[in-house]
Amino acid sequence: MQSETAKIYLQHLLAESLSELKLTSLLDSDPQISVPDPKHGDFSTNVGLVLAKKLKENPAQVAEKLVAALKKYDTQGVFEEITPTGGFINFKLGAGFLVRNLAKILEQGELFGASISGGGRSVVVEYFQNNVAKPPHVGHLRSAVIGDCLLRVLKAQGYKTVSDTHIGDWGVQFGILLFAYKEYVKAGGKKELLEADPINELNKLYVAMSARIEAEPALREKGKEEFVKLEKGDTENRELWQWFVKVSLEDFERYRKLLQILPFDHNLGESFYEDKMPAVLEELKNKGLVQSGETGEQYVDLESFGLGRCILVKSDGGTTYHMRDFATYIYRRKEFEFYKNIYVVDNRQSHHFRQLFKVLELAGYPAGTDSAHVDLGFMSLPEGAISTRKGTTISLQNLIDEAQSRALAIIQEKNPELNNQQAVAKEVALAAIKYFDLSHNRKTEIVFTWDKALSFEGNTGPYLQYTHARIHGILRKAHQADPPWHPEQPLSGRAEAKISAPERALLGKLVLFPEVVAQVAEEYLPNLLCNYLFELSQAYNQFYEVSPVVQEPDLDTRHLRLAICQATAQVISNGLYLLGITAPEEM
Ligand code: ARG
Repeated sequence: MQSETAKIYLQHLLAESLSELKLTSLLDSDPQISVPDPKHGDFSTNVGLVLAKKLKENPAQVAEKLVAALKKYDTQGVFEEITPTGGFINFKLGAGFLVRNLAKILEQGELFGASISGGGRSVVVEYFQNNVAKPPHVGHLRSAVIGDCLLRVLKAQGYKTVSDTHIGDWGVQFGILLFAYKEYVKAGGKKELLEADPINELNKLYVAMSARIEAEPALREKGKEEFVKLEKGDTENRELWQWFVKVSLEDFERYRKLLQILPFDHNLGESFYEDKMPAVLEELKNKGLVQSGETGEQYVDLESFGLGRCILVKSDGGTTYHMRDFATYIYRRKEFEFYKNIYVVDNRQSHHFRQLFKVLELAGYPAGTDSAHVDLGFMSLPEGAISTRKGTTISLQNLIDEAQSRALAIIQEKNPELNNQQAVAKEVALAAIKYFDLSHNRKTEIVFTWDKALSFEGNTGPYLQYTHARIHGILRKAHQADPPWHPEQPLSGRAEAKISAPERALLGKLVLFPEVVAQVAEEYLPNLLCNYLFELSQAYNQFYEVSPVVQEPDLDTRHLRLAICQATAQVISNGLYLLGITAPEEM
């Protein structure tokens, strides 16, 4: 039993009991198991209610019958109470199981929470889709940290992950940038002057040109012409564009390292699909999906699905963002043989992805089930939308710098003796920034404010880091005590029956970590893990407030409590790792 989680054990119990009562065939899906308020138990199921409806019987009676069978099949005595309440059944784990789970955490260490449920199937995760020649801002951060977390969680669940950034490096905006650059050179500007800070300088040229186009829309045609030349392989434009891409990729890599997110397997930009689009268009035509519009554009009609028209080729012959995405899906499917293909992108593109998946389905691909838009609520500033063009933006660089200086000030005030203050300040700063994004349900719209994003108290990354570091302080004392404590020391000494309520609450929480990680992998919701870790830390602090640890005179109790401390620190550290946040042992 110890290799499977409590929830999986419970699933088996339910399956056996339902089968004995010949009720299995009445259910359309596996019984639902949820985690109730701890005062009702550790797990709960509504299956009695569901069955009662089908059987047209009294829910309480159905639940009672089930409980009798469940108790019989729980031969390992994992549950100390299985209680019917109405049509619901609540399950309370026994102390023996809780202590065995504690030993398991200490034994598995960093691996606790991992599983092989992914079975090596491949999942493509696309995130941090920066655009060439544009400095990334706080909005890009959201996709970066959520994508990085999902990648880590999927890896931990035994999936083979493939990460890709799908860099925005193609489209008319690069024609506009080329035009702006050429105008700059014509007016006497030098490339060398841009090279000192190419991304910001190129962005300035682009912003200035956009303003000119706004005043004089005909200028846009110049930009379009430059893009057509680029598409046709014009040498000068190609070389300039390659330079834009090169400096941008270097910049993205710098940010990736700064943010401490995992390296990407691929940086296949939109331009990578340039030569793959004609075949895709052919394929869609052959499947009879493409129509010609009034001005010569080619599109797929999705009116009957309430999705309008999906333009593939514009009236001037230019390909669209959609076309590149069709080519991307087909390429990934063939190249990576994915089981799932997910796009971590904000919800302003929801319509785009709905169209994308629908056209692919019409073309015979299972995109409705094998792909998902992991949509993010949009981040804005109190004064309105973030716009690089309008200059209302907070660059990632500023955000990180500001976070670091705030963290350093706090450390200098609270722990002036600490070594490596700069390094720890960086860890704390990143924790605050990342956790701010991770802890909101990804679908919510966020209004960015410095104080909220850089808060170090309450449900924040630094609070979890601090709880973790405090536990390590206690463990250090225990290691130095005479005789020193080792986590290998047996736990069996203390009578399980004497487990106190705060110990019980904390042990119960520790059991749930693997379940939460599995749920994050399934629903792509990192905030579930944040909430869990926050509740775990609170349960720990409640335990610690009333339970002496190093000072506890009874040896067996002291050992049990130290093991609880060690396991809690381990789970916080494992959880933070999955969030992409470090867990310093001292801060
Ligand atoms: N670069 C795009 C943008 O900034 C986002 C790309 C999203 N991914 C995709 N496969 N379409 O809007």
